[in-house]
Amino acid sequence: MSEKNVIPNDLSAFWMPFTANRQFKKAPRMFVAAKDMHYTTSDGRSVLDATAGLWCVNAGHCRPKITKAIQEQAAELDYAPAFQIGHPKAFELANKLVNIAPKGMDNVFFTNSGSESVETALKIALAYHRVKGDGSRFRLIGRERGYHGVNFGGISVGGIVPNRKMFGTLLTGVDHLPHTHLPKDNAFTKGEPEFGANLADELERIVALHDASTIAAVIVEPVAGSTGVLIPPRGYLQRLRDICTKHKILLIFDEVITGFGRLGTPFAADYFGVIPDIMVTAKGLTNGVIPMGAVFVKSEIHDAFMNGPEHLIEFMHGYTYSGNPIAAAAGLATLETYQEEGLLTRGADLASYWQEALHSLHDAPHVIDIRNIGLIGAIELEPIKGEPTKRAFAAFVKAFDSGLLIRTTGDIIALSPPLIIKKSQIDEIVERLRTILNEVE
Ligand SMILES: Cc1ncc(COP(=O)(O)O)c(C=O)c1O
Repeated sequence: MSEKNVIPNDLSAFWMPFTANRQFKKAPRMFVAAKDMHYTTSDGRSVLDATAGLWCVNAGHCRPKITKAIQEQAAELDYAPAFQIGHPKAFELANKLVNIAPKGMDNVFFTNSGSESVETALKIALAYHRVKGDGSRFRLIGRERGYHGVNFGGISVGGIVPNRKMFGTLLTGVDHLPHTHLPKDNAFTKGEPEFGANLADELERIVALHDASTIAAVIVEPVAGSTGVLIPPRGYLQRLRDICTKHKILLIFDEVITGFGRLGTPFAADYFGVIPDIMVTAKGLTNGVIPMGAVFVKSEIHDAFMNGPEHLIEFMHGYTYSGNPIAAAAGLATLETYQEEGLLTRGADLASYWQEALHSLHDAPHVIDIRNIGLIGAIELEPIKGEPTKRAFAAFVKAFDSGLLIRTTGDIIALSPPLIIKKSQIDEIVERLRTILNEVE
């Protein structure tokens, strides 16, 4: 048997997720440390984090309370079986979470990621109708350009074509609403776009086609993030809510990005004043530090399962690490940090400064749209003819090299800094971006 020559720092074994592996491994970008708003690269440079890692490090990096909680929990109770046995911190965290959740969302199911939260939410929706004696409701409705993680349910209801097309037959019984990106009407809108609320009425067309009695749930991101920040037209989400209520279809908000203060409110449901039936979260729940997700449900949904013989498991679903002690400790310390520093609403104080700063780039080269809401922003660039994504990726690499972490998707630069950001750091992001946009071809 030939022995593989594995040298230290050999990059070959790790098949990196959502990464151009061969390109990356020729010119790797590595972080080795982080503190508050900054990363440190392997060559010792400081990089300003304009994306909160991957939309998750809402309280900034290596926050002492969270670090300490994880260290202490690992030394005290490292793991407890998740099924038929509990540990106090999972219950404590669930209670604290429902206290900050929109009214009526009184129960929480723990998972380990956004993708798992999505699968869990879809399964709860299907099973809910069944336990209510309405099992003919099997269809799930997603939306074009939606991102709901990478598992089979999530890519089935999702609408990002490259994430779907390689994987054959996905879930059957799925349909999609149109996306709400209308650049001709809404380009350079500050906040919620004026046009497009009527796109929610497409749900009526889908209901007419399939009949409401076959539809279990609609899932949307209140603000679509991964597809490049698509902000819902004013009134759109309320219209979806009304149509779902009218036809007894469950409305699921995927708040994996928008949850935990990103819009200047605890959840996007609060921001838009529209309460879903099920709310999917992850990322900011533990400040991105330890994998954890949480699915919030209205008490009517939870209670519908609590019938039948008490010795039987009510919902045949769960993960080895659901409510894991270390994740629960991280979640509790994260919530405390958010509360002590007012981070669940701090975005509201900064939103108009953020908005004006971003929109000052309207005259920078290649810019064809700028969008913003809460502490989220997107700068859409004109693609290079015949080479989509190349210009934005060049901007990403230039930004990294010059000490700024941005995220790109297609030819869109997406921004979502930690909620502890200072105004001077917002200015720095914008100044650096202007320089970068002047430099990229
Ligand atoms: C809206 C949304 N849903 C689900 C996910 C999937 O989360 P994860 O990568 O933790 O599985 C993401 C990740 O970016 C997301 O933005």
